[in-house]
Amino acid sequence: MNIIKINTKNKAKKLEKLKEENFKLRKKIAENFKKQMYIEWSIEPVPEWFDHYIDLYSSWGWDAGNAYWVERGCYNILAIKENANILELCCGDGFNSKYFYSSRARKIDSIDFDPAAIKHANKYNKKSNINFICSDIRKDLPDNKYDNVIWDAAIEHFTESEIKDILKKIKNHLVENGMLSGYTIVAHETSKYFSLHEYEFKSKEDLLEYLNPYFKNIMVFETIYEDRHNLYFYASDGLLPFSKDWKHMVSK
Ligand SMILES: C[S@@+](CC[C@H](N)C(=O)[O-])C[C@H]1O[C@@H](n2cnc3c(N)ncnc32)[C@H](O)[C@@H]1O
Repeated sequence: MNIIKINTKNKAKKLEKLKEENFKLRKKIAENFKKQMYIEWSIEPVPEWFDHYIDLYSSWGWDAGNAYWVERGCYNILAIKENANILELCCGDGFNSKYFYSSRARKIDSIDFDPAAIKHANKYNKKSNINFICSDIRKDLPDNKYDNVIWDAAIEHFTESEIKDILKKIKNHLVENGMLSGYTIVAHETSKYFSLHEYEFKSKEDLLEYLNPYFKNIMVFETIYEDRHNLYFYASDGLLPFSKDWKHMVSK
């Protein structure tokens, strides 16, 4: 960045003017994204995936929105080995692939079975080390081994038997000590969160039980907000983030 030489008084004035302009621009951009949100989500058919630019520019850019859409990317980053070969299942819009995972990855294969999601991802979240693939993960996974598999906000879109089948396949597509990570939600007591969900987990213990047959080490933890109870998971035969000998941490 070029440093422009102006006197201190001018700097303060110029800065304040820019902040005011940006404030107005943020408001305008947020209004446009609110329109997109309204049209996308209140008129049928609604998608099975979310455009996270709405989170970025409306929920965060203007309203004091929740933080859990960012938690997901951050917790997954902790699982990703440096220069990892990543398989991302059910990538949706590709926002997390680009802004959270790709900077740690050598290569990402990001899969979704919705052609509209893949088209959107390729148009708005393209990056040279991400390969967006249109495919049904119940039928096909790339013939490859991965350091990390990320299954974020999507395990609940499958039936109990599909989840078990896919977990078995994930294990076969991980390198030795490779890691699965992701996020899901805890079911409401009465109704489903979203009509397209097949199985919503009852608790962190319930999710742990599903992962248990396939991995030696598993961590499931929760964050609880007024409107949502989130579950995050790490599963591997090797070390998990925050485990005692994890090389990125010291503790006493
Ligand atoms: C709630 S979205 C999550 C998208 C993304 N991971 C995120 O966090 O924003 C669930 C995604 O799962 C995809 N999906 C559902 N069933 C699938 C299947 N059988 N194969 C591949 N993708 C599937 C949907 O198309 C949708 O994009």
